[in-house]
Amino acid sequence: MGKLVALILLGAFLALIGERLVAVREKTNAFREVEPVELQNCHLIEGLENGSEDIDILPSGLAFISTGLNFPGMPNFTPDQPGQIFLMDLNEPNPKAQALNISDGFNKASFNPHGISTFIDKDHTVYLYVVNHPHMESTVEIFKFEEQQRSLIHLKTIKHELLKSLNDIVVLGAEQFYATRDHYFSNFFLTLLETVLDLRWTYVLFYSPREVKVVAKGFCSANGITVSSDKKYIYVADVFDKNIHIMKKHDNWDLTPLKVIQLDTLVDNLTVDPDTGDIWAGCHPNAMKLLIYNTEDPPGSEVLRIRNALSEKPRISTEYANNGSVLQGSSVASVYQGKLLIGTVFHKALYCVL
Ligand SMILES: *[C@@H]1O[C@H](CO)[C@@H](O)[C@H](O)[C@H]1NC(C)=O
Ligand SMILES: *[C@@H]1O[C@H](CO)[C@@H](O)[C@H](O)[C@H]1NC(C)=O
Ligand SMILES: *[C@@H]1O[C@H](CO)[C@@H](O)[C@H](O)[C@H]1NC(C)=O
Ligand SMILES: *[C@@H]1O[C@H](CO)[C@@H](O)[C@H](O)[C@H]1NC(C)=O
Repeated sequence: MGKLVALILLGAFLALIGERLVAVREKTNAFREVEPVELQNCHLIEGLENGSEDIDILPSGLAFISTGLNFPGMPNFTPDQPGQIFLMDLNEPNPKAQALNISDGFNKASFNPHGISTFIDKDHTVYLYVVNHPHMESTVEIFKFEEQQRSLIHLKTIKHELLKSLNDIVVLGAEQFYATRDHYFSNFFLTLLETVLDLRWTYVLFYSPREVKVVAKGFCSANGITVSSDKKYIYVADVFDKNIHIMKKHDNWDLTPLKVIQLDTLVDNLTVDPDTGDIWAGCHPNAMKLLIYNTEDPPGSEVLRIRNALSEKPRISTEYANNGSVLQGSSVASVYQGKLLIGTVFHKALYCVL
């Protein structure tokens, strides 16, 4: 009798695991191949070969690019090299990426930049906020940008109980930002289990020196976050749910869900074209290829553009798609006056004139 119960339990357990594995294949789009969508005037950016996870462009056309992310489960061609922030001036006819010098007094050796966001104060001083993972922890670093010296002066490290497993950040005021937590556990295997069991313990939080709070939760894996051009709405990408959440922002910084745009690709980071308000999303068409990296069959890249996100019928178009022969693992696409930059988690970066 006892044996029978044990067998039934074992059977149920295996069925559950089997069902969960099917769910994981489904969540990662394990069977999807990309149909190529090419752009005419593109070239790979010299000097950016090993990741360009996040890109944020100033209204003046200066683009900040974070590189060298070391993240559990993701490929990395330069695991021993610390991360860097590059600058590119998109006003130049042939813009070059140049590493920014970081002031002394900041531990550059353990710099592991992830999401970035810029903030300009009323005196026109530019600040760069960077989600950093020194020794796999999560902090937010605030730098002041010195344009003449092409350097970043480190001002402050923010740590907080709720600032854990951070992914992306969007700064809306001096030391006031939203950030996403993309997984709950810090142990990589528990993180995998968390995804397999679909725990949905990730969230969006609001930080200010006076108040820190969770403002949206229940995401499978909250990833890219950004704000609409009119600053009234917050857009959050849930990478494993393959969708974008649109939320209304209130004066007390709370968020209320408005709608979800469902897609068939794993959405990483989001940016908004300042001229049109369109959302541009860097996506992973098939995340299984990202998790199990094979040079013969590499992960591809996909860039989606969402027009009229707030309307009844947003228009979604694929602006670029590649099977990995040119660009692998696109994580962000950012536009500035007809120029497009596409960044990747660990691979190259593409510059296109649209
Ligand atoms: C990228 O990584 C490869 C392999 O480690 C290395 O040979 C190459 O120099 C790196 N490129 C840059 C621009 O850092
Ligand atoms: C970076 O800054 C340091 C200290 O301010 C300086 O010594 C160094 O020459 C700078 N490097 C570059 C490439 O500008
Ligand atoms: C995504 O893009 C936005 C807007 O450019 C930026 O603020 C944010 O830091 C980016 N995050 C990631 C993880 O790519
Ligand atoms: C990717 O596409 C190129 C042509 O666009 C093709 O030559 C190559 O075989 C494809 N690679 C894979 C792994 O499918």
